[in-house]
Amino acid sequence: MIDLHSHLLPGVDDGSRSVDQSVGVLTRMLAAGVTEVVLTPHLDASRVLEGPPPEHDEAFASLSPRIPRGMVVHRGAEIMLDRSLTPRVVATRRVTLGGSRYVLVEFTRLVSSRAATSALQQVVTAGLVPLVAHPERYQVCSPGQVRQWRDLGAVIQVDANTLFAPSGRGERARQLVAEGYADVLAADNHGDSRSLAEPFRRLVEAGHDDVARALMVTNPTAILADRVTEQVRPCDIKVPLLQRFRGWLGDLRE
Ligand SMILES: [Fe+2]
Repeated sequence: MIDLHSHLLPGVDDGSRSVDQSVGVLTRMLAAGVTEVVLTPHLDASRVLEGPPPEHDEAFASLSPRIPRGMVVHRGAEIMLDRSLTPRVVATRRVTLGGSRYVLVEFTRLVSSRAATSALQQVVTAGLVPLVAHPERYQVCSPGQVRQWRDLGAVIQVDANTLFAPSGRGERARQLVAEGYADVLAADNHGDSRSLAEPFRRLVEAGHDDVARALMVTNPTAILADRVTEQVRPCDIKVPLLQRFRGWLGDLRE
């Protein structure tokens, strides 16, 4: 499996705090079958002029010699699209996923449909492919909205663990997969125990091995190789009624 979204560049954002913590997580991921990970620390588009700040390069230099053998680690970023990317950022590809033309992007939770759509359009016009991180998190998320973003040329990364969560957010994630609008699953690890292993296992157990492979192997591979992703077949994921009921109660309490 290949995980395109993680906060394991040590000590730079709200993810892993130290090299030891990152090495521990990478070691556990490798044992669970994840062989490639992209480090995607948070960056605001308004603060990136050309590439990542020097402290990110220093953090990578300290982690690099300790990456477990057998694990391939790429660099990238999760860009908050609070303004358009500069032509320099686009040209250097230093914040894209592994130097490809795919760039992982996010918005604030309450972003409007119009602002998100126009920001994605700008990225596409500039010549990059936006990979929209966890769309199920946004209030404007619906299958119709996500279809519009895909029609513009964006690809969609649903959160792997949210996919099985008995919550409104989980329900939105499942709707996207049910429509065939999810292109990639990623774990968004923040120095914790989240990985692709459990979602992969649950999809296989439900008879959706082909979907698990497309979302966690084939499409992430295509992205890092700068190729076009494949259409994933629509797939219904069931969460037991009792669990869903507990989730609804949790949503009401929030
Ligand atoms: Fe993230």
